[in-house]
Amino acid sequence: MFAEKLLNSYKAVSFDEVYLVPGLAEADPRSIDLNTRFSTNVKLLIPIASSPMDTVTELDMAVALALLGGIGVVHRNMETDRQVEIVKTIKMLPPVRTRILYANIEEPCGRVLEVMYKHNVRNLPVVSNGKVVGCTHIADLKDSCRKGLEPIPVKPCGTFRVTEAVRARQELLKGTIDSVAFIDADGMYLGTFVFYDAFEDAQPAVDSEGRLVVGAAISPFDKTRAIKLDRFVDVLVSDVAHFHNVEVLKEAKALVNEIACDFIAGNIATNKAVEDIVNTLEKVDGFRVGLGGGSICTTPEVTGAYIPTLYAVAKVRDAVDKIAPKTPVIADGGLRSPSDITKALAAGASAAMLGYMLAGTDEASAPLISIGGVKYKPYRGMASEGAMSRRFAVDRYARVSKRVAEGVEGLVRYKGSVYNVVRNIIEAIKAGFGYVGARNIEELWLKAQFVIARKKHAEGLSLDI
Ligand code: XMP
Repeated sequence: MFAEKLLNSYKAVSFDEVYLVPGLAEADPRSIDLNTRFSTNVKLLIPIASSPMDTVTELDMAVALALLGGIGVVHRNMETDRQVEIVKTIKMLPPVRTRILYANIEEPCGRVLEVMYKHNVRNLPVVSNGKVVGCTHIADLKDSCRKGLEPIPVKPCGTFRVTEAVRARQELLKGTIDSVAFIDADGMYLGTFVFYDAFEDAQPAVDSEGRLVVGAAISPFDKTRAIKLDRFVDVLVSDVAHFHNVEVLKEAKALVNEIACDFIAGNIATNKAVEDIVNTLEKVDGFRVGLGGGSICTTPEVTGAYIPTLYAVAKVRDAVDKIAPKTPVIADGGLRSPSDITKALAAGASAAMLGYMLAGTDEASAPLISIGGVKYKPYRGMASEGAMSRRFAVDRYARVSKRVAEGVEGLVRYKGSVYNVVRNIIEAIKAGFGYVGARNIEELWLKAQFVIARKKHAEGLSLDI
């Protein structure tokens, strides 16, 4: 029986073993619509989420992804209060890209002029003790500088509340001023909206009140954290390596009854897991799918357990269609290129969760370092020695009992702004849809066909050093 079992092992395919069959291209890539859902109530405009990892998603990444139409899932390798603070801050920000760019009332005019030239703006908000007190204009500043006058000249100007992003954009598009400030209810400065960001065509992903969407990672064993986050967050994302576990199911069953926001179960990789989750939990708003496929993941080597993410997505999606129709499936782990995202979508995913592909960006929550003149960012698995030594990750991989790391740490090449990185990814995904001949994700699900083939890839796609 053992020999038979071994030889009858079923076949699974991974990203680099299959390709999409080209179909009749009917749509102009510009008209391709990537609208999707991350969970029952969280709508996205692009099918991209950032991984809840401590070298990937904190405030900057989550804000950027929501502004680009996706969603960031804030990691949980930090105190609960800090995670809540990050989520609250995101909900307070305007749904447009802002920069911390202003003139302090006490700054010398020469310095303010330098900032204006550097950022290519003719006016800036002026801030005193954190409050916006007006604007300063380049012509008045030059005059003051020439005459040696202090402090910098300030004129009254309009400021905007976070709910007035549309009006702020209209103001900038008139072309008479180059920047406007957003303020909170107490008049405190929140950020500056600059004219070149007003031309941004990406639509932000927002909640029913027009605020940026955001997710937060939790352990099903940490009900206190979940309840604290629930009031502010759109979706709580389970962050355990193997959700299909009786203890985890028991805890999650109790937890979902205490929260009002969406809940994504994961990680899972089989149809049986879907059945057991749906039979156990009162509600589940999405499935996070992938086990052992992450770029920094050593679970397959350490434990022998692994299902290729692409295959797991398809298996889970088949089960979901039977017993939890329309519940989104999120492909997580091992996506290394835009084509992997398109393949995951074609295999039934609603969105992709990315760690490696976003880790090298400015907005990733790890410091930029330089080695021999080349820039890198650290990137590590949440079950690596380093991440686990912060102790918060203990329950994710049950280190107390297993005492073994299931992830590694490394460096990835610096890639610049996540805004550019994601824009390029989106262009490539749309091109992929174009080859298949699909105008949206639902059409891709219907039309996509795969061919099993191996193409030799360029070397060096693993972590960069
Ligand atoms: P990528 O390939 O995008 O994968 O870098 C990110 C995903 O990998 C998972 N993850 C881990 N898996 N050990 C693991 O087995 C780890 O230390 C680890 N850290 C993250 C997680 O699902 C993440 O989204």
